[in-house]
Amino acid sequence: MTKLTIPNDKPLMGKIIAKEEECEDTYKFLIELPIKAERALPGQFIMLWVPGVDEFPLGIAGFEENILEIGIAKMGPGSEAMIDKQIGDYVGIRGFFGKSFKPIEDVNHLLIGGGFGMTPLKLLTTTLLEKEKAQNIHVFEGARTKGRLMYLEWFQELHDKELVNFHVCTDDGSYGYQGFPTVDLEKFLQESTSPSVLYVAGPEKMMKVIFNIGKKYPKVIDMQMSLADRYMRCGFGVCSYCAVDPTGWRICVDGPVFNTKQLEQISDFGTYKRLETGEKLRI
Ligand SMILES: Cc1cc2nc3c(=O)[nH]c(=O)nc-3n(C[C@H](O)[C@H](O)[C@H](O)COP(=O)(O)OP(=O)(O)OC[C@H]3O[C@@H](n4cnc5c(N)ncnc54)[C@H](O)[C@@H]3O)c2cc1C
Ligand code: FES
Repeated sequence: MTKLTIPNDKPLMGKIIAKEEECEDTYKFLIELPIKAERALPGQFIMLWVPGVDEFPLGIAGFEENILEIGIAKMGPGSEAMIDKQIGDYVGIRGFFGKSFKPIEDVNHLLIGGGFGMTPLKLLTTTLLEKEKAQNIHVFEGARTKGRLMYLEWFQELHDKELVNFHVCTDDGSYGYQGFPTVDLEKFLQESTSPSVLYVAGPEKMMKVIFNIGKKYPKVIDMQMSLADRYMRCGFGVCSYCAVDPTGWRICVDGPVFNTKQLEQISDFGTYKRLETGEKLRI
């Protein structure tokens, strides 16, 4: 354990030391790195190399000493190959990349997400719990069904211990209230009299809806959203695969987390994304 940073141009091999099914088609892995790296910030990401298959970006759910926690949803060949890995296998890691969430002190912290967006929100919750008051931390999570709620037990336990306020919902009503996270979010914003900051990670269409809700309330002093629903190749600003119009910002270095002022300048936000070919696709 001599080096202090993980290289960003070639993968560092890490050993899988734990693997468990987190929720339907989604797995949690703990990966031991051979170095004691500097702390990862919530919202940053890694590039995961599955040897012989592919390399792709993943959020960071936790990082302690030299142990990295990731959560990976089954999508296609890359994620399936990772999910097939077993304890003792090695995978490559580059990172930590990108701009993180930047918590503002003494406000209501409203974390809203779904799907693998809950990965950076888990690390953000851990970070907030170190110095913010529990009653000010609200997590809003939504999924199609109970089985697809990521980190359900973890957030529910924090809620039961009164460490966070967990507002949970499902489309089919199988856990929490039936509906979308925006329902409880709007209720909170209507009733609250103190300033709030929104931290959002999930499908971009959902984030755009939340952005428009947030803009209606002057008490929302900032919205920080992770545009992680984008194609990436290098992860550190060289290939421009992840650039957005009209600013040309590269999501991997200028984001993935952007604040209200920046999001207002990205016309692609919630409307278009780029495919692997560079072609633009309506979201
Ligand atoms: C910053 C960032 C953070 C992410 N965090 C997570 C996470 O914590 N957990 C998780 O499960 N997923 C995360 N993803 C998505 C993850 O990278 C893709 O699901 C993965 O690449 C799928 O690869 P595949 O071979 O399994 O699927 P494929 O069949 O190759 O692709 C399925 C879909 O995944 C997306 N995708 C594929 N390759 C890439 C790529 N190189 N970059 C971005 N998206 C791609 C595309 O939307 C594609 O349609 C993140 C993406 C980004 C950009
Ligand atoms: S992924 Fe290469 S510049 Fe962003």
